[in-house]
Amino acid sequence: MRYLVTAALPYANGPLHIGHLSGAYLPADIYARYLRLRGHEVLFICGSDEHGVAITFRALAEKTTPQAIIDRYHPLLENSLRGVGISLDYYGRTSDPLHHTFAQKFFLRLMERGYLEAREVEQFYDPVAKAFLPDRYIVGTCPHCGFTEAYGDQCEKCGALLSPTDLLNPRSRLSQAVPERRGSTQYFFRLDLLVPALRAFVESRSWKPNVGPVIEGWLRQGLAPRAITRDLDWGIPVPNMPGKVLYVWFEAPLGYISITQKWAHEKGSPNAWLPFWKEPDTRIVHFIGKDNIVFHTLIFPAMLIAADEGYTLPYAVPANEFLNLEGQKISTSRRWTIDLNDYLEKAPHRIDELRFVLTALMPQTKDRDFTWQEYEQRIHTELLANLSNLIHRLLSLLWRQGQQHAVRPAPHLLAARADTAREMARLLEEYDFSGALESLLSLARLANKELTEASPWHQPPEKAYEILLGFTDLLLALGTLMEPFMPVRIAPSLRALVGAPLYAWEALEKPEPLSSELIMTQAPQPLVPKLTPQEISALRGLLPATPLPASGPAQPSASSQVPTLAIEDFQKVRLKVVTILQAERIPKADKLLKLRILSDDGEHTVVSGVAAFYMPETLVGKQAIWVSNLPRKTLRGVESEGMLLFAEDTGGQLVLVSPVERCAPGSPVK
Ligand code: 2FM
Ligand code: ZN
Repeated sequence: MRYLVTAALPYANGPLHIGHLSGAYLPADIYARYLRLRGHEVLFICGSDEHGVAITFRALAEKTTPQAIIDRYHPLLENSLRGVGISLDYYGRTSDPLHHTFAQKFFLRLMERGYLEAREVEQFYDPVAKAFLPDRYIVGTCPHCGFTEAYGDQCEKCGALLSPTDLLNPRSRLSQAVPERRGSTQYFFRLDLLVPALRAFVESRSWKPNVGPVIEGWLRQGLAPRAITRDLDWGIPVPNMPGKVLYVWFEAPLGYISITQKWAHEKGSPNAWLPFWKEPDTRIVHFIGKDNIVFHTLIFPAMLIAADEGYTLPYAVPANEFLNLEGQKISTSRRWTIDLNDYLEKAPHRIDELRFVLTALMPQTKDRDFTWQEYEQRIHTELLANLSNLIHRLLSLLWRQGQQHAVRPAPHLLAARADTAREMARLLEEYDFSGALESLLSLARLANKELTEASPWHQPPEKAYEILLGFTDLLLALGTLMEPFMPVRIAPSLRALVGAPLYAWEALEKPEPLSSELIMTQAPQPLVPKLTPQEISALRGLLPATPLPASGPAQPSASSQVPTLAIEDFQKVRLKVVTILQAERIPKADKLLKLRILSDDGEHTVVSGVAAFYMPETLVGKQAIWVSNLPRKTLRGVESEGMLLFAEDTGGQLVLVSPVERCAPGSPVK
């Protein structure tokens, strides 16, 4: 079977975060890797989505050009994706001239087919920024609650849904100017004419349980004509209409086609794209987040149907829900995010670990929550204590017996391996990636249990060795079974340790030994090194203590607004150097640490809200600056005597303030 796998084209106006990864890129990659192991013909593509007002506005805010913005983010996005092991065959971009030409031709084709209609519309226009404004770029006073910063589509204070015309004193978020209403002609795509064809298409496919009802909802609501042109200067020019560009959601999905064409061009066979888009037996699978469902299941298929040029319609659109972060929505503007480029920089050797945790927590049918605690726990209990421990126990025992070993699988282990491979295949083909991973972990749990029960270490040498040989086939198989999930370091390292190739998935499903021998060429090392407190605290530092306020990054306050402090007032603050003697977490308070400190007058207790930044044991022995004459305060049942000073680094990370050289406890700071 031939497959075209795509992952949502990310906007080139900001970095990718772990929510994007678990939503679209990771499932797409696991799926593409599995299909390749299954022996299918697979093309896996993605690319930067480089148009749209968000990019224009970002450029305006940074006083630069949209081109400069996309040229900054396009390589960053590709590097992040490749860095986390997304096995793309090609990563393109929608600013490519090939894409522009293709999208323009497609527009003209729909025009020729009678699916486009010009209509006069009224829109808000910013006369200073010289741009038409989307509703969200207009702010004003909410007519319901009086909040002065309500958006043109919704008041964030009282939740009321609004139109820009409802706002009192509307102003543009770009320039603060009063927006004007201006008439303009736009082209509308006659989706309404395509409803019967879309119904037939929707009924011919099977949809994930979280996708089907969304499609039904849109169809029930009725599909109205949609404007597909905009008055902007950044985007793909509408043929013969100066000053207008194609709406980004009209042209971006066409990028899937033009990027396939570009891939074909680059590899020197310009027609190689055709089978992927024009052969009805090709399976096109779009991996996306839930906010993109309507575009991929209805609007894009409608465009392909309307063009009537023999395009293949999507086979499946396995959209995921959203991943939250420490109980809150991921938000770039509130800096409540873990960006992939930051993770790659902080933990370049922990890519498979991140993939592992994000697969286990994948928001496949409902929103899920990522926490650092869960990250740590899943790595320890599932990856280390189960999978890596099984492999390491077996390899260490085998290594003592020599380098070359016969593969003589215990019959029930062989059967369990084959059953698991089949079960994983079934789940992967249903887009249940966390289920498939769980199935792999169950196999490891079973093998661990068998190994412990058989206890070769308590058996006479010959019997012991026979027991070990019973696991050799499993060791060979695991290097492939783990590959879709942990392909960057962990699965290849195992294969290197046991001299295994990547097997065809089909071979894994047969209860027959994969090989006649297992050859170890190097002494085994644990596949997954223990997570150190330093690693975890560095990773926790990627998140600020709390999200920034909803209005986005705080305006830098003018220095005149900072009150001057009289020296006599400053001298009232009693600062002392202290040594931290003990540090522990406070039960049920994720943010707080209870610290026991030593000053010149003995020991004291302080509570600090830094549990997100420091593992308690890393603070013990350090010196700190103590504000000693604050009133006592009880926090979560613990009485805190004063506080320790921390600096807030960029990104909201808290860093302990400590004297550069050691001082006697109690030394005054002045
Ligand atoms: O939501 C997004 O991030 C869009 N840039 C996805 C586009 S997918 C495709 F249609 F191009
Ligand atoms: Zn309101």
